[in-house]
Amino acid sequence: MRKVWYVYVAECGDGTLYTGVTTDLARRMGEHASGRGAKYTRGRGGVRLRAWEACATKGRALSREAAIKRMARAVKRALPAIDGIRPAAPGDLAFIQRTIARLDLDAERVSHEQFVIATVGRSRAGFARIKPYRACFELGSVAVLPRFRDRGVGASLVRCLLERFPSRAVWITTDLRGWFERFGFRESRAPAELRAKLRGITHKVRRRGIRALVYRRQS
Ligand SMILES: CC(C)(COP(=O)(O)OP(=O)(O)OC[C@H]1O[C@@H](n2cnc3c(N)ncnc32)[C@H](O)[C@@H]1OP(=O)(O)O)[C@@H](O)C(=O)NCCC(=O)NCCS
Repeated sequence: MRKVWYVYVAECGDGTLYTGVTTDLARRMGEHASGRGAKYTRGRGGVRLRAWEACATKGRALSREAAIKRMARAVKRALPAIDGIRPAAPGDLAFIQRTIARLDLDAERVSHEQFVIATVGRSRAGFARIKPYRACFELGSVAVLPRFRDRGVGASLVRCLLERFPSRAVWITTDLRGWFERFGFRESRAPAELRAKLRGITHKVRRRGIRALVYRRQS
């Protein structure tokens, strides 16, 4: 399965910043925390994820890593931080799968590295996903538990991924056209792989009127 690559900036306990690439942010942060991560982060105290972006290929992640490493510290510190949204870990998978089943969402090729989790206090409130295809990426499975709805959690999940998405075109297949149009998504003819998914999914979910929409990022 195609993987999403991530470039990330982590802050060490001594206040210095470390930039790296990975296909699994949660696992990598665990490695840094346990001293199995990069030599640089060992012995510098707790490591905290400060910023990350998704990239379409390992090559792009490495060139973005090199560009970030060249940035001045102050510029690195100004990269958009993430409040209340964290990369999903293997321990979130059961919650994700349960919620996907309950809300009748896309259950295809679910793996934790593609997901981010929104938290409210200590509770998991929802999630969203970057789903890779061979030639495009979909912003998938945006979900907020009913008791956390209507307070902007869904919107912050969408904005978090729009800022960090691995491609200019951000596809979504959804029956909530009105909700996604608020962010600037517009209905469009989808790439062949997504059209194939749309044809297949109507047999798997009870939802009707699912359409492909696209948001075109500036950079
Ligand atoms: C869609 C969903 C993620 C929104 O989450 P949320 O945290 O409530 O979203 P926000 O608080 O950011 O936005 C809520 C706003 O959208 C509006 N809204 C909700 N559903 C809508 C819809 N179908 N069409 C248009 N607007 C909608 C609400 O009335 C509210 O409006 P307000 O901002 O004027 O008060 C959530 O309802 C959900 O999980 N639904 C089930 C799963 C699903 O269908 N996901 C999308 C499939 S890809």
